[in-house]
Amino acid sequence: MTLSIAQALIWTGNSIGVLDQRKLPEQTHYDNYHDAAGVAEAIISMRVRGAPAIGIAAAYGVVLSVQQHYSQSENWQNAVATDIETLAQSRPTAVNLFWALDKMKAVLANTHDDVLTAVTTCAIKIHADDLAANHTMGDFGAALLVGAKGVLTHCNTGSLATGGYGTALGVIRSAVAQNQHLNVYADETRPWLQGARLTVWELAQDGIPSTLIADSAAAWLMKSGAIDWIIVGADRIAANGDTANKIGTYSLATLAKQHGVKFMVVAPISTIDWSLENGDNIEIECRSPRELLPACYDTPNSLVSAWNPVFDVTPAALISAIVTEAGVVLNPAEHAQGIRSLQL
Ligand code: MRU
Repeated sequence: MTLSIAQALIWTGNSIGVLDQRKLPEQTHYDNYHDAAGVAEAIISMRVRGAPAIGIAAAYGVVLSVQQHYSQSENWQNAVATDIETLAQSRPTAVNLFWALDKMKAVLANTHDDVLTAVTTCAIKIHADDLAANHTMGDFGAALLVGAKGVLTHCNTGSLATGGYGTALGVIRSAVAQNQHLNVYADETRPWLQGARLTVWELAQDGIPSTLIADSAAAWLMKSGAIDWIIVGADRIAANGDTANKIGTYSLATLAKQHGVKFMVVAPISTIDWSLENGDNIEIECRSPRELLPACYDTPNSLVSAWNPVFDVTPAALISAIVTEAGVVLNPAEHAQGIRSLQL
């Protein structure tokens, strides 16, 4: 399979090109950033989104910070620490962001000469490792799909959301590359429409036909018997397998149980938060009501408000398989030790 699709992030050596995903599918437009504050803003504004891509962008943000401050100030460490904090404040739910920043902090703490080369090497490796993990997960997940006729995916988990191939969408890509005949359905994914604007676009770029559905059609689609597996990515997985992902994932998992449909979570190890025993304490980002409210209600003293959580947590008991690059855990609620055994 060729990777002709647009990449979310392009490292130039002294800046990072960020594909503005808010403009897709109509426009393929890259903004170029030369400092960490710009990268943080690109994450906050969702020019770049998707858990692994956010982590990779933040890693390059640290490189830009070192590039800016290292030779210019005796207090460069403080300036870089401030930039790291700015990057950490950009979005709260995807643990890949904090995982990547921790890796960069460790390099900073342990390097005494040529800090710029050390942090650049680390960021490029985080990016390359994620891409490699995607391909491995693609193979593992595709093996589970053998014999399936229909899959439904939620949000966007493809090249745009990762180092360049995809988690859940990578599994679909790999299955199709292996000549599995799958009917691929994608949820619109309200309110931001990652499915309608990004997922079906990516699939079309690869020549993979797909069928878009309204989120609210998922139950009826499952009832029709068209779906064997729901396949999603993750923003943070607790050590017991509870999984935070795009709002609506929990609804899909509940519906899957009702209809005897299997439910697959695909995520790199960098998405597992080993510090959390379960999903109860995962911080769920709430975005502006303006992303939901019709403009006529966005007025002072309006009687209409909006609640806009953008992630939810699916209990491990509703998950049939967690696929990582380190292996697959089937029925994680029954095999919590299985998840621990993935710790690299
Ligand atoms: O708000 P977003 O678009 O950043 O949310 C993205 C998701 O929820 C994805 O499913 C998740 O990050 C996994 S992407 C490989």
